[in-house]
Amino acid sequence: VDVRLDLFAEIDRLKKEKNAIILAHYYQEPDIQDVADYIGDSLGLSQQAAKTDADIIVFAGVHFMAETAKILSPQKKVLLPDLKAGCSLADSAPPELFARFKAQYPDHLVISYINCSAGIKALSDIICTSSNAEKIIEAVPKDQPIIFAPDRNLGSYLVKKTGRDMVLWNGACMVHEIFSLEKITKLKVRHPHAKIIAHPECEAPVLAIADFIGSTTGLLKFTQRDDAKEYIVVTETGILHQMQKENPNKTFIPAPPNNACACNDCPHMKLNTLEKLYLCMEYEQPEITMDEQLRIAAKRPIDRMLEISA
Ligand code: 13P
Ligand code: SF4
Repeated sequence: VDVRLDLFAEIDRLKKEKNAIILAHYYQEPDIQDVADYIGDSLGLSQQAAKTDADIIVFAGVHFMAETAKILSPQKKVLLPDLKAGCSLADSAPPELFARFKAQYPDHLVISYINCSAGIKALSDIICTSSNAEKIIEAVPKDQPIIFAPDRNLGSYLVKKTGRDMVLWNGACMVHEIFSLEKITKLKVRHPHAKIIAHPECEAPVLAIADFIGSTTGLLKFTQRDDAKEYIVVTETGILHQMQKENPNKTFIPAPPNNACACNDCPHMKLNTLEKLYLCMEYEQPEITMDEQLRIAAKRPIDRMLEISA
């Protein structure tokens, strides 16, 4: 990249010239959030991808998100600034192993969290996100047994919330698993009026001390309507950018991870940079492509989710 380029202006120019829309997840770096046309959680991003009339969707997020956009809008060019931006949770469920697991429960309906590959989506009956999971589970008849994949933490949380005894796949997110209950508790002692807000991908002991649990959009909205002055935020740090922008007079403290060398940035999300975003718009690659049969099979459970959450 020519260091003299004004990347913000160039990205803006490319957006107009190419009729491109930038969809960004809250875990992206602040500069990327600031150039995005839409910032949201996984549900909001997939709804935007389904309805946009842009010719190019530039997905500032991770691979499964861009892949979902391509599944929903196959006629559009979908770009991902770094094709290596994966997801530990999606990687924890390889489709071949999951197919064998599913075969052990022939009477079960499969609800999968959107953080999974197209291969897993094609083996699922309904997709959900952290913001609509309860609603989706409640839409399924009470006597219908369910497999929930791939996140065991979100799954256990939903079992408690809905009272449904679901069979869980044993996957987890590397970012949400590393928060330290002990360090969060010590932080709370030093900030007794701070509210603890957590993403449901966190482990059960952390969720047990949270004042509020929700998706990234859910957490952000909570900070806007709640009257506390301080929050301990137990999720990826990218969300703090919008929280701080929306609530300039409140303090947001990122929850500490369990070891000094760890950090609570998602290494996959943070592979995308403003420079890579510019380059991918300029050269229209890396582009998401997928097999048409797989796309059709993966679309069915996403459509069911979008219908239920409409
Ligand atoms: P949401 O933004 O849907 O809450 O998902 C969080 C996440 O981990 C995305 O990778
Ligand atoms: Fe995947 Fe976790 Fe990163 Fe989200 S934060 S993309 S679930 S590894």
